Amino acid sequence: MSCAYCNGDVIQGPLGSYVIREVKGMGGQRVAYSALAGNVEVCIKCFNTPNLALAQHEKMVSDSVQRLRSRGDYGKLVAHVNPVQDVFQHRGDVFLVEPLRQGGSLAEQCGQALPVFTAAFIGRKLVRGIMALHLAGFIHRDIKPENILFGADAGELFVTDMSLAIAVYKQGLAAATPGYASPQQLRNLAASVADDVYSIGATLYQLIVGLRPFQCANPEEEVELTLDSSRPALPAAEFVKLPDMLNGLLCRALSKQPHERPTLREMHEELSRH
Ligand SMILES: Nc1ncnc2c1ncn2[C@@H]1O[C@H](COP(=O)(O)OP(=O)(O)O)[C@@H](O)[C@H]1O
Ligand SMILES: [Mg+2]
Repeated sequence: MSCAYCNGDVIQGPLGSYVIREVKGMGGQRVAYSALAGNVEVCIKCFNTPNLALAQHEKMVSDSVQRLRSRGDYGKLVAHVNPVQDVFQHRGDVFLVEPLRQGGSLAEQCGQALPVFTAAFIGRKLVRGIMALHLAGFIHRDIKPENILFGADAGELFVTDMSLAIAVYKQGLAAATPGYASPQQLRNLAASVADDVYSIGATLYQLIVGLRPFQCANPEEEVELTLDSSRPALPAAEFVKLPDMLNGLLCRALSKQPHERPTLREMHEELSRH
């Protein structure tokens, strides 16, 4: 995939008040570059199909989260959400600017099962970032390893990509990532915090087991298994030795029924035991 900007010869050089350096990652919608703003390194994302409204929406969601900073303990949760700093247009293309994170995405660590304490450490920070989004009134709706970034210090974790984020109880585009999206999100029902709980569960399951809950080569089949209420995810304990409580937490988080899933607070408490 490429964006309009890198389709041509220009893949480095000045872009408005920024200087592009190199490609850091690609998702379904855009290419992420490292760039300089003066002496400061930033990440600039160029949309595959220019979409100013979407970029502004992401900035609005991010601003709502950032406003929680001044609210006592909530400020600490906000630190796990990568803020959108700027949105701008250049020769018809749309760009979004964020702090650059040097540690890569969690997807780079998903080739094999991680030790439980590492997964729990990552899980706690992920849960805290998503708590901040929920407190600001939004559901992320695209939690998956590709959208979780590490800082230069691997202990720093940041949730990014709020392109599917939507206000609680609103119905959005029927957009979702197979393998991580809840049955309700796949059916395009009103968005609820339980959708994000499911996706956190799917991400943690993958970290611990080394596979997504219904992993198969064909995304349509993966969606079918996610939707099929007669086919619960195989317990993680069938693949790896796991404390009962943590196995139970993953099973509940991946429940087909949203009301059976744990709250983020419960997830955080349980993950803190490991
Ligand atoms: N702030 C950042 N710092 C470093 N790399 C990033 C940053 N944001 C995104 N990336 C990388 O670029 C990829 C695509 O960015 P993302 O915002 O997820 O776009 P998409 O909406 O296309 O999925 C990510 O999966 C990640 O690997
Ligand atoms: Mg993404």
